[in-house]
Amino acid sequence: MTTTRFLTGITPSGTPHLGNFVGSIRPAVAASRSAGVESFYFLADYHALIKCQEPERVHRSTLEIAASWLAAGLDPQQVTFYRQSDVPEIPELHWLLTCVTGKGLLNRAHAYKAAQDKNTESGHDLDDGVTAGLFMYPVLMAADILMFNAHKVPVGRDQIQHIEMARDMAASFNHLYGEHFTLPEAAIEDNVATLLGLDGRKMSKSYDNTIPLFATREQLKKLIGGILTDSRAPGEPKEVEGSALFQLYQAFATPEDAAAMRRAYAEGIAWSEAKQMLFERIDREITPMRARYDDLMAHPEKVEAQLQIGAERARALAQPFMQRLRAAVGLRSLSAAAPAQASPKAAKTALPTFKQYRETDGKFYFKLVAADGRLLLQSTGFDAPRDAGQAIALLQKDAGALQALQAQLVPLEGVDTEQVTAALQALAAAAST
Ligand code: TRP
Repeated sequence: MTTTRFLTGITPSGTPHLGNFVGSIRPAVAASRSAGVESFYFLADYHALIKCQEPERVHRSTLEIAASWLAAGLDPQQVTFYRQSDVPEIPELHWLLTCVTGKGLLNRAHAYKAAQDKNTESGHDLDDGVTAGLFMYPVLMAADILMFNAHKVPVGRDQIQHIEMARDMAASFNHLYGEHFTLPEAAIEDNVATLLGLDGRKMSKSYDNTIPLFATREQLKKLIGGILTDSRAPGEPKEVEGSALFQLYQAFATPEDAAAMRRAYAEGIAWSEAKQMLFERIDREITPMRARYDDLMAHPEKVEAQLQIGAERARALAQPFMQRLRAAVGLRSLSAAAPAQASPKAAKTALPTFKQYRETDGKFYFKLVAADGRLLLQSTGFDAPRDAGQAIALLQKDAGALQALQAQLVPLEGVDTEQVTAALQALAAAAST
């Protein structure tokens, strides 16, 4: 049986809350127990440095998050569970990828663009407060993923672009140096809830509206008591739609119990009573985990020992793979015999590549990407993959098709027709030799 390798990173820059548990920890731990799955979960502490420059906070959060995942049932025998900074091959790979990544590709990253937009809005210099770390973030993330040749990367929707970029980097590298990397895909869990926080907005530490996963019983009770509700009195029917309280209950209850709560809402349950039921429900699920969590927090050396086992397993793969990649790019011992001939792949001039993919709008797209990562063509959405494929075939055969396909292409700033025509001609020429 072939196994699918899942890999995901958790940035340690805060304290895990119920939203993290329901949206990420719980489904990931469950998924790691499925047959045919190999899981790599890691603490992305190099990533944490991008947004958090408080050493104590990074350190504390690393412990809290590792302890949370272990307390929630992650089995380090089954999952390779490690800390990014324990695997020095990752930053090394980051550099190799940096050198095959177009700067233009990174200019388009959402996180970087958002920082620039904010500066524009507030009348600041475009790159004010933007570190090169934020700019390079997608490359570090690609190194995390490609280092272990992950097939599937479970992430939130906001991270899809980064996975797409990791694919681009993998393809550029493979094209230049031979087939070394698996092209990863994002795995989006559609049926896990994004929890609402105390104030009814999305539960997020940036809104300061979270319920910590391992709050004490007393804190938990108090926080639940503070969840925003409307002013309907006991006996008045209540809406489940948009109710943070109901949604939390649903995330922890069986479908039958959630249905019963839905009826209780319609029948006018008092908010205080609903809150008490929610508290009991969450507390019942969390209590056994909380005991394990408290024990791990009191004995950080136990957590460290688990992470060291994970690091050893991760490095057993990363070290030889990195050796192979170093050799592939020409970083080799001088005393070893020179290769008889340069690999034909690398000798060929680097060609642009067509990429076909599906977006979250359900439509099919293609793009043409130069070997250095620059975007040369971007299609509009096609309803069927066949249509996108046919357009590609036309363009591959004859650069003249550009004209006819104008309506299916998005105009790109800084790319002129001559460049694209030349790229298409190079592709056609390579295909006919
Ligand atoms: N950037 C991710 C986030 O903020 C965390 C992360 C780092 C990650 N490296 C990764 C996720 C590799 C998946 C794969 O959520």
